[in-house]
Amino acid sequence: MIQKLYLQLFFISFSLYVSAQSDLKASYLRSEYKISPVIDVAHPRLSWELTSSVNSQYQTGYQILVASSITLLEEGKADLWDTKKVTGNATSQIEYAGSPLESRQICFWKVRSWDKKNQPGPWSAPATWEMGLLQKTDWKADFIGLNLNHLGKGKEYHLPPAPYLRKDVEIKGVVKKARLYVTALGLYEFQINGKKIGRDYLTPGWTDYNKRLYYQTFDVSKDLRPGKNALGSIISYGWYAGYLGYALLVRNPVVKNFYGDVPALKAQLEIEYTNGQKEIIATDNTWKANYGPIVESDILNGEVYDATKELTGWNQPNFNDTAWKKVITISDKTDRQVQVYPGDPVQEVARLTPKNSKQMGPNSYLVDMGQNFAGLIRIRFKAAKGDSILFRFGEMLYPDGKLMTENLRKARGTDLYIAKGDPNGEIYEPRFTYHGFQYVQIEGLKYAPGMQDILGIVLSSATPKAGTFETDNAFVNQLYHNIIWTQQSNYLEVPTDCPQRDERLGWTGDAQAYVKSATLNNDIAAFGTKWVVDLNDAQLANGAYPVYAPAPSVRVTDTYSPGWMEAGIIYPYQIFRSYGDTKIIKAHWAEMKKFMQFLETKSKGEYVFKETAFAEVDPKGGFGDWLSVGKKTPPDMLATMYYAYSASLMQEMAAAIGDEKEEAHFKEVFGKVKAAFLKHYTNAEGKFICNAAAYGNGKGYVDGEMGFEGHTQTAYANAIFMNLLDSTHTLKAAKWLNELVVKNGNKLTTGFLGVRPMLPALSATGNSETAYKLLFQKEYPSWGFEIANGANTIWERWNSFTREGGFPAGMNSFNHYAFGSICEWMFENMAGIKETSPGFKTLVIQPEVMAPNINSLKATHRSINGTIASAWQKKGDIVTLTIEVPVNTTATICLPPTPTNNITFNGKALVATAVKSKLVGRRELNTVTVGSGKYVLSYKKSALSGF
Ligand code: BGC
Repeated sequence: MIQKLYLQLFFISFSLYVSAQSDLKASYLRSEYKISPVIDVAHPRLSWELTSSVNSQYQTGYQILVASSITLLEEGKADLWDTKKVTGNATSQIEYAGSPLESRQICFWKVRSWDKKNQPGPWSAPATWEMGLLQKTDWKADFIGLNLNHLGKGKEYHLPPAPYLRKDVEIKGVVKKARLYVTALGLYEFQINGKKIGRDYLTPGWTDYNKRLYYQTFDVSKDLRPGKNALGSIISYGWYAGYLGYALLVRNPVVKNFYGDVPALKAQLEIEYTNGQKEIIATDNTWKANYGPIVESDILNGEVYDATKELTGWNQPNFNDTAWKKVITISDKTDRQVQVYPGDPVQEVARLTPKNSKQMGPNSYLVDMGQNFAGLIRIRFKAAKGDSILFRFGEMLYPDGKLMTENLRKARGTDLYIAKGDPNGEIYEPRFTYHGFQYVQIEGLKYAPGMQDILGIVLSSATPKAGTFETDNAFVNQLYHNIIWTQQSNYLEVPTDCPQRDERLGWTGDAQAYVKSATLNNDIAAFGTKWVVDLNDAQLANGAYPVYAPAPSVRVTDTYSPGWMEAGIIYPYQIFRSYGDTKIIKAHWAEMKKFMQFLETKSKGEYVFKETAFAEVDPKGGFGDWLSVGKKTPPDMLATMYYAYSASLMQEMAAAIGDEKEEAHFKEVFGKVKAAFLKHYTNAEGKFICNAAAYGNGKGYVDGEMGFEGHTQTAYANAIFMNLLDSTHTLKAAKWLNELVVKNGNKLTTGFLGVRPMLPALSATGNSETAYKLLFQKEYPSWGFEIANGANTIWERWNSFTREGGFPAGMNSFNHYAFGSICEWMFENMAGIKETSPGFKTLVIQPEVMAPNINSLKATHRSINGTIASAWQKKGDIVTLTIEVPVNTTATICLPPTPTNNITFNGKALVATAVKSKLVGRRELNTVTVGSGKYVLSYKKSALSGF
């Protein structure tokens, strides 16, 4: 009997031991794409990454526990949500479905996963999320401010000073928990007892302030002390009331104050004392206001800081503010939503130290930061009281070494500091502005600035890094460097076109062309989710998406344009595709459908946009293949292709949300547009044609005087990329595309809309050698030309600088990501990492290793499932691939068509039965399919293209 009991106990403990054995472990727990965020969605989506030492590992089930306290969670008491074991391999986009959550509630959660043998792994470390203020009535704070507009009058730029706001508060005991909920119409910096709260810049971010305003939440539990504390805030005009875009340049009737004219702060400090008491301290009419050293403050035009006007002690308790004014309170718009900021805040993401400095004249020094970037300068210096020190910023130098600032156009883009004469030196770093620059010219300093006294503060939306890319070829590495610095400079609150001139708008064409590249370099799930809201908030009444979002009317004629407006479909599609996010589809489905309806109505039921179809917009036809070279691809032809492409993405998105009716509908639309496109824009041979005469002399069209032609690189590249052609037609188009490039001396003619599909289309149709020739081209127009001319970011134009022509006047940025969309091809074709289902659940590894001047390459991409790596090396005629596949993911590795006994797989001859012939893209290839793990393959280089 006793023996039997022992035996039973043995078996029980043995099975417990066995079932606890899996090393499948969850980490990187996130809610709504963020680590420990404050959120305000009722059903936050949870995700985690899995690791295991076992190859081909995957999850067969998971259990999530959510508790209202860490103790309960540790005890396994999930009072909010216990999913129990859920079968399946989902590790992301899992919507919380537990007890309803309240404002301010903190949720503690953990997860464990069952492995492929159905054995559970250990519990993850705990993670949290916190609920923000869910009802508008949770807000007790008023908007407070000070109208200083009269002080900005009469100057070239009407820039009033930045208001300072303050109040002393009594903290009545020991603080257990304190949260600061804060936002502004304009921009704010909040301080407690003189310390800046948080590390964010340009908060609360840019939205259509008439519709919504975001707020930030900070844990300030440790910033308050019993007794008197000073709450202080400096506010500014920002996107809300400052200058925007090129309004001044184009003499728009409105040049600033697009959303309002008085900035205002709304802040609420919520305190829980250790004795259980709670208190809310909110902005109201008891706050005091003044203005001081920030004499002018504007994103585009920079800051004027007069240190002699500093309000010493204003941000400390017991400051005598009797001379300060009473704040004005500004009533909220009832229909404006106040929500948690869903994106990644702008933060300092790197620091630069200067490379050198050169004296340019008396008291004038030009400092080279060594890199073009978006951000600020922090400088330490000594100066006499009243000395004015001017900081001018530029991206490039004229051949004679002088700073080039003409391309800033109407953005003044300078900072001016008036010294207080502190014998210990002064430190200056502006707020509420940023510049796009590599060089800063400091004028008015009486001695050469110390290099150790200058820092470049690099600003960007803090999107987590997701990609690495490195080869043994310095040129390719430089190109990748230029791409990521350009993305970093322009993924700044919204996807901007450029960070320096009087623009910095969320141009939709640039954004849609680049978005896939962006996802490969950084995790833009949160950033993109936020911008897609901006995009939909800006949808026009007729259903078209705008040319930039947010969309203040900085030029009254800016409306919609083919190639730009489709960002309303393409951008959310990419977020869905990269992160398996179907919520973004559902959230904006109605608006996307409205847009598709706009296209249908606009095509007059013909499903094709014939020549001059978009003559009503300015410029006529829209922006077309912006900044292309030579004859123009007809914008209406591109509009038709984009129509078809949008329909195909809608079809796929409808399928993803399980809407079969809509899927069938958009399949039909795609078919109709494709057919109508081919009928109208191809000849009997299948060549792309257009009725150029319909455009007359081209007046009113972008580069219309160059003439129009259908047979262009841009046209074929897009048609191939967007799958508009059947297989025989694709072969022909591929031949013409290749010919067009070769006949042009292996040079591009593409602009913004042609460049993205160009190299992918060549590679997809067996012309990777030509794609590589374009990559390595050094003559204008090419990426190599920019790099040969010293570029360390991507230029706006292929000829942003030429030795003969210098800098073209007017529109010319050296930090513009659209042409950086080659990045997509670098990851997908050079490194060969290509997702084949949403969220990288399945992928293909198919590197194109034929470039004679690259012998090794390594790229990684951190997908929502974990990090994928693809590396290749060539030694003699042997190619070695090293591949890493994350848990829960299947990779199809493409092999050369050599007999399998020439291929080694993890050191052994590859067994023939492992090799399967599969259709990959457009080609039938030998493949091996692997699950998670690290794999090394080597084979003899094959003559066949791609291997
Ligand atoms: C911007 C672009 C934008 C374009 C519209 C420019 O001024 O900088 O990047 O897409 O206008 O064509």
